[in-house]
Amino acid sequence: MIDLPAIEGALTALVSGSAVEELQVLLERCADFEILVTGAPPGPTAAEDLLVDAPEDHPLRDKFVIGVWTDQGLTATIDLLRHFPQEHVWYVGLLLVAPESRGQGLGRRIVEALIDWVRRQGGRALRLVVQEQNPRAMAFWRAHDFQPIGTAVQELEARTNQVTRMERRI
Ligand SMILES: CC(C)(COP(=O)(O)OP(=O)(O)OC[C@H]1O[C@@H](n2cnc3c(N)ncnc32)[C@H](O)[C@@H]1OP(=O)(O)O)[C@@H](O)C(=O)NCCC(=O)NCCS
Repeated sequence: MIDLPAIEGALTALVSGSAVEELQVLLERCADFEILVTGAPPGPTAAEDLLVDAPEDHPLRDKFVIGVWTDQGLTATIDLLRHFPQEHVWYVGLLLVAPESRGQGLGRRIVEALIDWVRRQGGRALRLVVQEQNPRAMAFWRAHDFQPIGTAVQELEARTNQVTRMERRI
């Protein structure tokens, strides 16, 4: 059994097989977020695409798309890249909680479990970016001691985003 973050009140597994279809449904239920950051809802292969979405030249063995199952089914997902952009840094490409489950502490439990797990894997920092049009996400990450370390411009589909790069040393 692969060791994954242990989240109180939830089961975790790497997304594969029939769970890819469940992930597609979750992404479609979270179309609000996709529209906010890319300007368009998720396409019909969004889940499959997410599983192989990694920077060029970065091996897929460092990619982890983790599903979080509660009694509501697949309720959240975490997309992680190990050793990116450098050794011992883990990049959170996505943290997504189903709309009706937000604001109930699941995100907090996921982040706490993730930090603990990444630390045990030898990671020394978590990094991510937050789009300027997503102030609630910024409040969330700041509440978990992520610090701004810079800004960048991100091209996503039809949108150009101003983003803040955030880091949490662990
Ligand atoms: C950000 C997110 C992962 C947090 O998960 P969560 O389960 O809602 O988080 P918790 O319940 O532990 O914490 C709630 C806090 O998250 C923040 N938050 C961000 N977006 C939120 C939303 N849509 N609904 C409720 N809280 C939200 C708030 O700061 C809130 O704090 P408050 O209770 O003081 O208002 C989740 O809301 C989500 O999936 N949002 C859409 C996708 C997204 O923005 N992901 C982050 C990309 S950088």
